[in-house]
This record gives sequence, structure tokens and C-alpha cells, in this order.
Amino acid sequence: MPCHADYHQKTITAPCENCHGDAAFKPASKFNHASAKFPLQGLHETVPCVKCHPVTVTNNVSFQKFTGIQYKQCSNCHADPHHGQFGPNCMSCHSEASFHTVKGISNFDHSKTRYALENKHQLVSCKSCHKNNVTDPVKHERCIDCHTDYHYGQFIKQGVLTDCSACHSTKGFTSTSFTIEQHNAANFKLQGAHLATPCFACHKKQEKWSFRQIGIHCADCHKDIHEGFINKKYYSETNCTICHNPSRWGDVSFDHSQTQFAITGPHATLSCRACHFKKDSLGTEHQQFAGMSANCSGCHKDNHHRQFETNGITDCLRCHNASIWKIANFDHNKTAFKLDGKHQNVPCAKCHKTVTEQNITYVLYKIKDTRCESCH
Ligand code: HEC
Ligand code: HEC
Ligand code: HEC
Ligand code: HEC
Ligand code: HEC
Ligand code: HEC
Ligand code: HEC
Ligand code: HEC
Ligand code: HEC
Ligand code: HEC
Ligand code: HEC
Ligand code: HEC
Ligand code: HEC
Ligand code: HEC
Repeated sequence: MPCHADYHQKTITAPCENCHGDAAFKPASKFNHASAKFPLQGLHETVPCVKCHPVTVTNNVSFQKFTGIQYKQCSNCHADPHHGQFGPNCMSCHSEASFHTVKGISNFDHSKTRYALENKHQLVSCKSCHKNNVTDPVKHERCIDCHTDYHYGQFIKQGVLTDCSACHSTKGFTSTSFTIEQHNAANFKLQGAHLATPCFACHKKQEKWSFRQIGIHCADCHKDIHEGFINKKYYSETNCTICHNPSRWGDVSFDHSQTQFAITGPHATLSCRACHFKKDSLGTEHQQFAGMSANCSGCHKDNHHRQFETNGITDCLRCHNASIWKIANFDHNKTAFKLDGKHQNVPCAKCHKTVTEQNITYVLYKIKDTRCESCH
């Protein structure tokens, strides 16, 4: 066959009849690809010859390349869609059967990719993130590339949605890395008892978490138990901090001198409760603030059995001050009976006797008869 001798341009050295039968050169009926250096397996068997053996035409002479083809690596012919992430050995995961069946896919080491799967993400199915082809790019700079905004826009600041990663990790959304310091930079500082209050007590409203419009004034969350008891001029409805702090309700401070009754002396050591909360006969406490009498006798029993009453009122401060019951403001010489001469050293009780009248014992100060002879 002189005409055909040059057909393969000496790239094939075996005798023509190894591959060609008598009938025709085409197809090369005796050729079996299994005897080539690169046996065809799997899906390669269905690939048209020309895809691996391209035909070129030079000076009207066509030539099909059968030898001198690189084949040691799959990547000699297949582009690496993984951009080299998994190294050159495609066979460690793939075979000619299919690129979509991958050896050991169930324990595929995702950390070889640009995106490591951590914590809860390890439980997520591949399809949830790889909607179509695994090798299609998947945005993953921010959590919100994949997660919808659970908080319906509450964390949009200056038009930008704060990424979930500012407060959450892949460990789970039920916990948060949001710190007390961050909280205190927001509209409401966490102090005192609020530090020990679980987040949900303030933020969970009907199943959903809520971080806005939950109120920031004490009275937004706490019932104003003093409604109707304290004159509003002493505090604004919303601000209980005139008296309270978030540590303990009983820890009260108030400038009492604003009222008609300054708190001094022994009263300063008393709790507000001692004067403003009283138990009834059933033991139930009732508060009273407005309409209280500033008179000592409003709270203290008149030890003197009304001897010093004028028009039904005894002004205790005429003789006492608010520090001690020992008399302070009293000058005997302003009474109708001056204590002078020998009388100055006579003990009070020598003239002011303890008397009992209708079962009540008291010291008699109002001595009606001041003549010498009434005593001498
Ligand atoms: C190792 C196998 C092999 C050997 C040896 C071989 N050929 Fe081929 N030859 C082929 C194959 C395969 C084709 C392409 C057949 C096809 O297109 O179906 C081919 C094609 C041809 C064609 C072109 C047929 C056409 O109609 O396009 C000619 C001519 C030819 N060979 C001649 C020769 C000659 C002459 C020799 C010996 C000097 C030879 N071949 C040796 C495998 C071989
Ligand atoms: C998936 C790629 C691929 C396909 C498809 C393919 N081949 Fe090959 N073929 C190769 C490789 C690789 C070699 C080895 C090249 C070398 O030895 O340099 C080869 C070698 C050959 C050789 C030379 C054998 C020798 O002994 O020198 C012939 C002839 C050949 N193929 C014919 C065919 C024919 C005919 C088909 C279609 C039925 C075909 N090939 C399909 C990849 C392929
Ligand atoms: C010599 C070139 C060549 C080599 C080497 C080669 N292939 Fe192919 N392979 C092809 C061609 C050409 C196709 C046809 C698909 C196409 O049109 O791209 C193909 C198709 C496939 C297909 C089926 C089509 C698909 O995309 O799903 C698989 C699977 C495949 N090759 C796996 C491999 C594996 C695994 C290796 C390494 C062991 C390998 N191939 C080595 C050329 C090659
Ligand atoms: C560490 C394992 C691993 C290695 C090594 C690896 N791949 Fe893959 N490859 C995969 C996985 C996983 C898929 C996705 C399979 C699927 O579709 O479910 C894939 C898919 C593919 C696909 C199909 C892409 C698509 O979008 O349909 C091609 C092509 C591919 N690989 C080529 C290669 C080539 C070429 C190499 C070698 C350079 C290689 N792979 C090495 C794991 C690997
Ligand atoms: C939580 C989301 C998520 C899950 C679940 C996930 N992946 Fe991925 N995967 C990604 C991201 C993000 C990338 C990086 C994509 C990029 O760079 O564009 C990636 C990359 C890959 C790549 C490399 C793609 C390439 O470019 O070649 C492969 C392969 C892959 N993943 C396979 C898997 C397999 C197999 C599973 C299931 C076992 C899986 N992934 C589960 C998010 C995920
Ligand atoms: C400014 C901080 C912050 C940001 C930003 C943030 N979260 Fe939250 N998220 C929280 C807090 C605090 C909770 C209540 C968590 C707890 O203590 O259980 C929460 C709760 C959740 C819950 C409910 C968990 C449960 O109780 O079942 C989901 C789901 C959630 N976040 C998803 C997201 C997603 C998705 C993003 C991003 C779009 C995001 N979060 C952004 C602070 C934040
Ligand atoms: C590439 C997409 C993707 C990215 C990026 C991504 N996730 Fe996911 N994540 C998912 C998918 C898909 C699921 C499973 C479906 C679901 O629960 O929403 C999931 C599930 C989770 C879960 C488990 C949900 C549960 O209810 O237990 C947590 C927690 C989580 N992601 C946190 C994060 C955090 C935090 C970030 C940012 C640091 C992040 N994810 C980034 C895709 C992503
Ligand atoms: C957003 C709602 C909210 C706001 C605003 C708020 N609190 Fe609270 N506070 C709570 C919750 C919830 C608790 C824990 C449950 C409880 O004891 O009522 C609590 C507990 C307390 C306690 C401890 C009660 C106890 O019995 O130990 C005090 C004291 C307190 N708050 C005072 C204040 C003061 C003072 C303000 C204003 C500066 C204030 N709170 C503002 C919700 C709030
Ligand atoms: C003018 C001072 C004052 C203001 C303002 C004030 N409180 Fe009080 N509150 C008190 C005093 C005094 C007590 C008793 C404290 C004690 O136990 O010693 C008290 C006790 C309480 C108690 C505990 C009651 C109990 O039985 O132990 C609560 C709850 C309370 N206040 C809520 C509020 C709220 C809510 C506001 C704001 C709307 C507010 N208070 C404003 C003075 C005030
Ligand atoms: C020793 C008794 C006593 C103690 C202790 C005391 N108060 Fe008073 N408080 C009074 C008297 C008496 C009045 C009435 C004064 C007046 O008419 O203005 C009064 C009036 C008030 C009023 C004005 C009520 C109104 O609506 O007119 C407030 C508010 C008040 N007290 C708060 C407190 C707080 C807070 C404390 C603790 C820090 C406290 N008080 C401790 C005796 C006391
Ligand atoms: C709103 C009620 C209230 C008023 C008004 C009041 N006190 Fe008191 N006072 C008390 C209470 C309660 C105590 C402590 C309990 C006790 O010792 O009786 C107390 C204690 C005292 C004490 C020290 C305790 C003792 O018995 O030694 C003196 C002194 C005192 N008061 C003087 C006065 C004087 C003086 C006035 C008039 C300026 C006055 N109080 C007005 C409620 C009041
Ligand atoms: C005219 C002067 C005067 C007036 C007004 C007065 N007291 Fe006295 N009080 C005295 C004298 C004197 C003593 C005895 C003081 C002493 O021994 O140091 C005294 C003692 C007391 C004692 C102490 C008793 C004891 O056993 O230690 C009490 C309590 C007391 N007075 C309450 C009152 C009350 C309450 C009022 C107003 C309702 C009042 N006093 C009004 C003069 C007065
Ligand atoms: C020698 C007798 C005598 C002695 C001692 C005496 N008193 Fe008197 N005291 C009187 C007489 C008499 C009156 C009546 C004067 C009057 O009604 O104005 C009186 C009145 C008072 C009154 C009533 C004043 C009033 O405004 O109603 C007080 C209080 C009093 N004495 C306290 C004292 C005290 C305290 C002492 C001791 C330091 C004392 N007395 C010692 C004789 C005495
Ligand atoms: C309310 C009773 C009372 C009246 C009124 C009274 N005294 Fe006295 N007087 C006494 C008492 C008690 C003593 C002390 C006597 C004693 O220790 O026994 C005393 C002592 C004296 C002494 C000193 C006596 C001695 O032994 O040291 C003289 C002097 C005195 N009185 C004079 C008078 C004169 C003068 C008057 C009338 C201007 C008067 N008294 C009114 C109760 C009174």
C-alpha cells in the first residue's frame, strides 16, 4: 500500500495489518484500544476518538494524532475545577466512572476547600450550600450570604445590616458572644439585678426575640406600685431612679428635705419602710406617702397624756428636737414657775410626780397650784 504508507507519518511503527483488515482502512477493525498505553475505562469508552485524537490538516493533508499524547494525569486533559485546592492527584477522589461520584465523599475533608465546615455546619447536607454544581462558587464572606436576617432588620445600623458573626458563631444561634460591654454601649445599661436577669426576661416576647421597642424606662417594664400614693411632683412617671436603682427595690435614696419633714437624728437611720409602709391587722403591708402628718405626734405616742395640748394639738418640738426625747428646747423659767434659789437643785421628780389616772401612768407637769404653801 504505497499510497497509504505515509498516512500515520511514522507515528505508528507496528505493521499495518495489526490494525487494518483487508476490507477498509476505516474503521481500523483489528485495533483494540486495550493494547494501547492508555486503556479506555468507564465513560472514556463512550467518548468519540477525535476528542482525544484530534485531526489537523496541513497542505490539504489531514493527520490524526494517535501517539505522543500526555495522559499520566487526568489533568492532562481535564481542567481542574478546584483550582488546585486538592492537589494534582484527581484519582484519589475520582475515577473514569464519573466526576460526580467521589470516593469517600461521606468523610470528605471540607477544610481543604476555601471554607472550613465548623461546628453545626458539619451537620448540614452538601446540597443546602451547594445548590447546583459543587464547584460553582458559593458566596461565604459573611453569614448573611447564606442566612436570612432572623432579626427582621433590628440590627441595621446606618443602613448596613450587622453580620450575624458580630454576635453568633457556628456553635449555634441559641448562644451569643454579645458582651455586657457591648450592651452597655447601647440604649440601656445592664446594672445591678439586671446583670443576673436572664436575657429572655427582657427580650423574648411571644416566642420571638425582640431587641427594639421593649422600653428603656423602669416603668416600661415594672409596675408603678406607687401610683396614687406619691405626689407626681416628686418623680416623673417614667423615671423611678429618683429613688431606686436597679440593684434592689429596698435600696432607696431620696432627698427628703424637699418635703415638709426633714429627716435628721435618729430618723436618718430608719428605712423608708419604717415610716411609709404599715401592716394592717391582717399583717398586710400598705404604703402611705402623700397626706402624712409631719407632726411628731402623728407617729409617736404622746407620753404626757395630752397635758401640753392646745386646741387638740401638741407641738412636741416646743420641748424636744428630732434627735432625742431628752428635752432640748425647754426653759423652765418661761413657765409660770421660775426655778430659782434653792429650787434650782431640786430634782424634777420631787415636784413632778408620777401619777396614775384611768390606768394610765404619766408624769404630772401641769401643776396648777404654784403657791409656796401648796408644797411647803
Ligand atoms: C495501531 C493500529 C494501526 C496501525 C498499525 C496502522 N493504522 Fe492506519 N489507522 C488506524 C486507525 C485507528 C485509523 C483511523 C480509523 C478511523 O478513522 O476509523 C487509521 C486510519 C488509516 C487510514 C485512513 C483511513 C480513512 O479512510 O480516513 C489509512 C490510509 C491508514 N490508516 C493506513 C495505514 C497504513 C498504511 C498502515 C501501515 C503502514 C497503518 N495504517 C497502520 C490504526 C492503525
Ligand atoms: C479518552 C481519550 C481517548 C479516547 C476517547 C481514545 N483514545 Fe486512543 N489513545 C488515547 C491515549 C492517551 C493513547 C496513548 C497515546 C500514546 O501512546 O502516546 C491512545 C492511543 C491510541 C492509539 C495508538 C496505539 C498504539 O499502540 O500506538 C490508537 C491507534 C488509538 N488510540 C485509537 C483510538 C480510537 C480508534 C479511538 C476511538 C474508538 C480512541 N483511540 C479513543 C486516548 C484516547
Ligand atoms: C488524554 C486525555 C484524557 C485523559 C488523560 C483523561 N481523560 Fe477523561 N475524558 C477525556 C475527554 C476528551 C472526555 C470527554 C468529555 C469532554 O468532552 O470533555 C473525557 C471524559 C471523562 C469523563 C466523563 C465525562 C464527564 O465530564 O463526566 C470522566 C468521568 C473522565 N473523563 C474521567 C477521567 C479521569 C478520572 C481521568 C484520570 C484517570 C481522565 N478522565 C483522564 C480525556 C481524558
Ligand atoms: C479531595 C477530593 C477531590 C480531588 C482530589 C479532586 N476532586 Fe474533583 N470533585 C470533588 C468533589 C467532592 C466533587 C463534587 C462531586 C459532586 O458533584 O457531587 C468534584 C467534582 C469534580 C468535577 C465536576 C464539576 C462539576 O461542576 O460538575 C470535575 C470536572 C472534577 N471534580 C475534576 C477534578 C480534577 C480534574 C481533579 C484533579 C485535578 C479533581 N477533580 C480532584 C472532589 C475532588
Ligand atoms: C455550610 C455550607 C456548606 C456545606 C454544608 C458544604 N459546603 Fe462545600 N463549600 C462551601 C463553601 C462556602 C465553599 C467555597 C466555595 C467558593 O470558594 O466559592 C465550598 C467548597 C467546596 C468544594 C470546593 C469547590 C471547588 O471550588 O472545587 C467542594 C468540593 C465542596 N465544597 C464539597 C462539599 C461536600 C462534598 C459537602 C458535603 C459533605 C459540602 N461541600 C458541604 C460551603 C459548604
Ligand atoms: C447584635 C447582636 C446580634 C446580631 C448581629 C445577630 N443576632 Fe441573632 N441573636 C442575638 C441574641 C442576643 C439572641 C438571643 C440569643 C440567646 O441568648 O439565646 C439572638 C437569637 C437568635 C436566634 C434565635 C435562637 C433561639 O433562641 O432559638 C436566631 C435564629 C438568630 N439569632 C439568628 C441570627 C442571624 C441569622 C443573624 C444574622 C442575620 C443574627 N442572629 C444576628 C443577637 C444578635
Ligand atoms: C455558605 C453558606 C453559609 C454561610 C456562609 C454560613 N452558613 Fe450557617 N448554615 C448554612 C446552612 C445552609 C445551614 C443549614 C440550614 C439552616 O439551618 O439555616 C446553616 C446552619 C447554621 C447553623 C445551625 C442552625 C441551627 O438551627 O442549629 C448555625 C449556628 C450557623 N449556620 C451559623 C452560621 C454563622 C454564625 C455564620 C457566619 C459566621 C454562618 N453560619 C455562615 C449555610 C451557611
Ligand atoms: C426592658 C425591661 C426593664 C427595664 C427597662 C427595667 N427593668 Fe428592672 N427588671 C426587669 C426584669 C425582667 C427583671 C427581673 C424580673 C423581676 O424581678 O421583675 C428586673 C429586675 C429588677 C430589679 C430586681 C428585682 C428583684 O426582685 O430582685 C430591680 C431592683 C429593678 N429591676 C429595677 C429597675 C429600675 C430601677 C429600672 C429603671 C432604671 C429598671 N429596673 C428598668 C426588666 C426591666
Ligand atoms: C420618691 C421615691 C420613690 C419613687 C420615685 C419610686 N419609689 Fe418605689 N419605693 C419607694 C420606697 C420608699 C419603697 C420601699 C423601699 C423599702 O422596702 O424600704 C419602694 C418600693 C418599691 C417596690 C418594692 C415594693 C415592696 O413591697 O417591696 C417596687 C416594686 C417599687 N418601689 C417600684 C417603683 C417603680 C416602678 C417606680 C417608678 C415608676 C418607683 N418605685 C418609684 C420609693 C419610691
Ligand atoms: C421618720 C419617718 C420617715 C422616714 C424614715 C421617711 N419618711 Fe418620707 N415622709 C415622712 C413624713 C412625715 C412625710 C410627710 C411630709 C410632708 O407632708 O411633706 C414624708 C413624705 C415623703 C414623701 C412625699 C409624699 C407626697 O406625695 O407628698 C416622699 C416621696 C417620701 N416621704 C419619701 C421617703 C423616702 C424615699 C424615704 C427613705 C429614703 C423616706 N421618705 C423616709 C416621714 C418619713
Ligand atoms: C411619720 C412618722 C414619724 C414622725 C412624723 C416622727 N417620727 Fe420619730 N420615729 C418614727 C419611727 C418609726 C421611729 C423609730 C421607731 C421608734 O423608735 O418608735 C422614730 C424614732 C424617733 C426617735 C428615736 C427613737 C427613740 O424612741 O428614742 C426620736 C427621738 C424621734 N423619733 C423623735 C421624733 C420627733 C421629735 C418627731 C417630730 C419632729 C418625730 N420623731 C416625728 C416615726 C416618726
Ligand atoms: C412642754 C414640754 C414638752 C412637750 C410639749 C412635750 N414633752 Fe415630752 N417630755 C418633756 C419632758 C420634760 C420630758 C422628760 C425629759 C427628761 O426626763 O429628760 C419628756 C419626755 C418625753 C419622752 C421620754 C419618756 C421616757 O420615758 O424617757 C417621750 C417619748 C416624749 N416626751 C414624747 C413627747 C411627745 C410625743 C410629745 C408631743 C406629743 C412631747 N413629748 C411633748 C417635755 C415635753
Ligand atoms: C420646785 C418645784 C419644781 C421643780 C424642781 C421643777 N418643776 Fe417643773 N414645774 C413646776 C411648777 C410649779 C410648774 C407649773 C408652771 C406652769 O404651769 O406654768 C412646772 C411646770 C413644768 C413644765 C410644764 C411647762 C408647760 O409649759 O406647761 C415642765 C415641762 C416642767 N415643769 C419640767 C421640769 C423639769 C424638766 C424639771 C427638772 C429639770 C422641773 N420641771 C423641775 C415646779 C417644779
Ligand atoms: C410645787 C411644789 C413647791 C412649791 C410651789 C414651792 N416649793 Fe419650795 N420646795 C419644794 C421642794 C420639793 C423642795 C425640796 C425640799 C426637800 O428636799 O424636801 C423645796 C425646797 C425649798 C426650799 C429649800 C429648803 C431646804 O430645806 O433646803 C426653800 C427655801 C423653798 N423651797 C422655798 C419656797 C418658797 C418661798 C416657795 C414659794 C415662793 C416655794 N418654795 C414653792 C417644792 C415646792
